[in-house]
Amino acid sequence: MTIATSTIDASNSDLDPYSPRAQADPHAFYDRLRQQGPVVYVPGRDVWLVSGYAQAVAVLRNHADFVSGDGVTFNVPSTRTERYPLIENDPPLHDRIRRSVQPSFTKRAIESFAPGVENAASEIAHDAVELGEFDAVEVIARAMPDQAMTLLTGITPPSAEALAEWSDATSRGEEPAGTQQHSESVMEALTWLATEGLPAMPAHCLGRLIVDSGGHDGRLDEDGSQRLMTLASMWLAGIDSTGALLGNAIDAFVDHPDQWDLLRSRPDLIPNAAEELLRFGAPFKAFFRRTRTTAHVDGAEIPAGARVAVMLAAASRDPLQFPDPHRLDITRENAKSHLAFGNGLHVCLGSPFARLEVVSLLAELARRVARFERAGEARRSPSQTVHKFDTLPVRVVPAEGESK
Ligand code: HEM
Repeated sequence: MTIATSTIDASNSDLDPYSPRAQADPHAFYDRLRQQGPVVYVPGRDVWLVSGYAQAVAVLRNHADFVSGDGVTFNVPSTRTERYPLIENDPPLHDRIRRSVQPSFTKRAIESFAPGVENAASEIAHDAVELGEFDAVEVIARAMPDQAMTLLTGITPPSAEALAEWSDATSRGEEPAGTQQHSESVMEALTWLATEGLPAMPAHCLGRLIVDSGGHDGRLDEDGSQRLMTLASMWLAGIDSTGALLGNAIDAFVDHPDQWDLLRSRPDLIPNAAEELLRFGAPFKAFFRRTRTTAHVDGAEIPAGARVAVMLAAASRDPLQFPDPHRLDITRENAKSHLAFGNGLHVCLGSPFARLEVVSLLAELARRVARFERAGEARRSPSQTVHKFDTLPVRVVPAEGESK
């Protein structure tokens, strides 16, 4: 099949992914973009936008032509001297590092964290009902990954706020609007981890396995920097992402109370609901790849040296893959084929853990909350990378038997 590839000049069109209009209503922007074709070049930003589902999968699976080693963000990191060992490398180095940590992320390994994560979820749901009216970003979205990632890694951050800011800066620093302050915040996180976080880690934890033993096969470099960056990258990757998803999920249930009622009456649907929430509220707008030689996606020819945005959130609402894509449907049969976790060899390492967090929290909230209602104006984050809320005021109506 030959795909028509469009060329759009972002300077005089409304198809600039970073325009205030696109930022204000990203899914309306994706719909406009899709009308131009699944692969679109935007000269004003010098970026190829891949928003079609099939085309996004094709790019993510073709790591030979679409490389990660030249940067997976809009800007190539300038201030950070060490690259993130997994996400910013290609085979064979990527695969060697991934093998050294993968055993900690098998289904069985992750299940061992279930009691702790469920306990945290129960406390968060309890607090939500007690408060009655609150900011869901603070009370739910930030609290869950803050507690869960400490259980997983052994790292206890100075505060949930500091951790959220560090994780936010990790992606924001490499955006078109990224600032020096974002870069400094990332350096602050890495310095804190090296000087305070590591010495305070308990004797047996994932953090120690990586930093002291060099991973499961002991093959992470002896010099320590690769070990630190491997741990830092999974630690920072697991905060903002899951937090964004949880905020988007609460917002979705405020707008779709019928789906919340259905979830409460059919708890067996919770795992599929988690997938549908990932599809519907996919946190990452895009991850990037670069070409080193001419490459092809269906009929589109992409030149060497190109910056290619694989638009995960847009592809997860491609009507060719997901009929009626803007409808939240927790019974959707192919919800799990979303691209929120990416695809191919860089597919999210932490996805089993993120799923555990979401499923545990949904189960606890479903038991205690009859309804979520809006309690004020929600404010979206200015992040150009992550779909998320900065504040999301909600009120919960407690389930029968749950006191406020
Ligand atoms: C809802 C939550 C999450 C979402 C939406 C998400 C999304 C993603 C995506 C899209 C990628 C692929 C990037 C690419 O192809 O360039 C990725 C990779 C990665 N994620 Fe996640 N993530 C989440 C949670 C987590 C958690 C909890 C952890 C750590 C425990 C984590 C650690 C990683 C790591 C280390 C990679 C790099 C894997 C590699 O390059 O081999 N993520 N994530």
